[in-house]
Amino acid sequence: MTNASATPQIAAQNPHFHDPDWWRNAVVYQVYPRSFADADNNGTGDVQGIISKLPYLADLGVDALWVSPWYPSPLLDGGYDVADYRDISPRFGTLADADELLTTAHRLGLRVFIDLVPNHSSWDHPLFQAALAAAPGSPERELYYFRDGRGENGDLPPNNWGSMFGGPAWSRTTNPDGTPGQWYLHMFDVSQPDWNWDNPAVPALFDDVLRFWFDRGVDGFRIDVADAMAKDPALPDVTLSPFTGHGANDKHEGSPQWDYPGVEAIQRRWRAVAREYADSDLGERVFVAEAYLDPIQRLIEYVTPDRLHSTFNFDALLSEWSAESQRAVITKSLPAHGAVGAPTTWVLGNHDTIRVVTRFGKPETGTNFAQSVEGEGWEDPAERTIRMHPIPTDVELGLRRARAAALLELSLPGGAYVYQGEELGLPEVEDIPEDLLDDPTWERSGRRLRGRDGCRVPMPWSGQASPFGFGTDAQPWLPQPAAWADLTAEKQASDPGSTLSLYRAALALRRARPEFRTGELSWLDLGADVVAFQRGDALAVVVNFGSAPVSLPAGEVLLTSAPLVEGLLPLDATTWIAL
Ligand code: GLC
Repeated sequence: MTNASATPQIAAQNPHFHDPDWWRNAVVYQVYPRSFADADNNGTGDVQGIISKLPYLADLGVDALWVSPWYPSPLLDGGYDVADYRDISPRFGTLADADELLTTAHRLGLRVFIDLVPNHSSWDHPLFQAALAAAPGSPERELYYFRDGRGENGDLPPNNWGSMFGGPAWSRTTNPDGTPGQWYLHMFDVSQPDWNWDNPAVPALFDDVLRFWFDRGVDGFRIDVADAMAKDPALPDVTLSPFTGHGANDKHEGSPQWDYPGVEAIQRRWRAVAREYADSDLGERVFVAEAYLDPIQRLIEYVTPDRLHSTFNFDALLSEWSAESQRAVITKSLPAHGAVGAPTTWVLGNHDTIRVVTRFGKPETGTNFAQSVEGEGWEDPAERTIRMHPIPTDVELGLRRARAAALLELSLPGGAYVYQGEELGLPEVEDIPEDLLDDPTWERSGRRLRGRDGCRVPMPWSGQASPFGFGTDAQPWLPQPAAWADLTAEKQASDPGSTLSLYRAALALRRARPEFRTGELSWLDLGADVVAFQRGDALAVVVNFGSAPVSLPAGEVLLTSAPLVEGLLPLDATTWIAL
């Protein structure tokens, strides 16, 4: 439908737009629609808001955007609870707006990913409502996981699985006569019932969803929890988590819930649908998988030939800010992806994780996810997740490191993801009043984990006071800190030392210099506290994690995340050098 023929304008803005391998080196900007730009001034972002900022993204120099779910949804998990996969939420706009977004983005040389949420729907989805209204054992119920409870009166859940957001993964239904009925499975919020992918009607339904959007001109899908969907049909109990009192979601090998063998066939089926478009204007469509899997070999299976094109590599995001950890991630990731012919990707943040400025501004920089309200840090070894505790953030330090991390990320072989606001150096908002917290994690954890709202605060675009150009004057759905007056895109655009200017310069260089696409990475030894490498023969990247300033290879400094001091690279800084 959308015609993206090679206009001169596209060629000027993005020379790689029509390259069939465009996605291998793409820098993809994540838009969280609720919090990006509010064109109709009702406190919530919308599609017209995104359209209004497409020139900003084109100027920034990214290759693509990924729009988090924009579908009709009760927003009980920020839109990852989809009530209709083939429409746009009236809160965000209309299908005509989506079409306009695709056409405008393509004209500006930007590819567009949207989000596929295949593990679960919203409980508002008409098929789930029909399943609730139907009898146990009916075809309607077979689209989801409905089971009788255990115990004498069926009042115990069918197994011990725990929801990712806390609490049990099963909720009980009520029969039409008011008596308690069967239970249904939801690996996430109670409002997100899991689809039964063993029922052939479910894969068929999602094939149609893919084609619906590909036909409209969507370039690819980010697959939400791409390691879920398939489950051991016996639904066996799993090890209890001492942390939640329910089954642990540790994703170990052999888990009946995560990365279960059935995901392979599903992924191959999707790839075949994407290939149907190989001869279209926009070429074969592309997938990126969201799957937190360990060790990396399990993740790599997802990007073997005929499965998905790419996957988020969360290892950098989950690693501490140290030479040893960052080097280890690079040495592990590149050969692992290379061995199967897939590009590595680099991710510093997203709508689920503590913003990079704040993460790197804490004493422990490898911490992630939920911010606890308890006094002490606490850890659930079974879930591999250290819960962040309320230690004050050194924002200045965090920003310095985040800038260094950005230049490292953008210099590595493969693709990179930029979460909205990263280019402005936004910190996590750690003091959202409890009565405004919206993430289901807050209630489901018994108000112990604040959840992910702190990285979802609406963008500051311009002006001196909230809403900072997000809307005209409506109160944004989450409050913006007054201090963001100094971080608006408008303010940073005119400051050559700003984080926005750093990202623009980095992305322009990345596009201009072929080494960033094709240069082999070879290591340079500048000491244990320094991560240094060349891309090809003529470009060097140096990151200093140590306290001693580092002397640099001879050449012209193209870009630096912090000023050099007497020609030396100071602590927590990255520089790019033309040799
Ligand atoms: C993914 C999304 C997250 C969502 C969850 C359930 O991890 O990124 O935001 O809550 O899946 O859909």
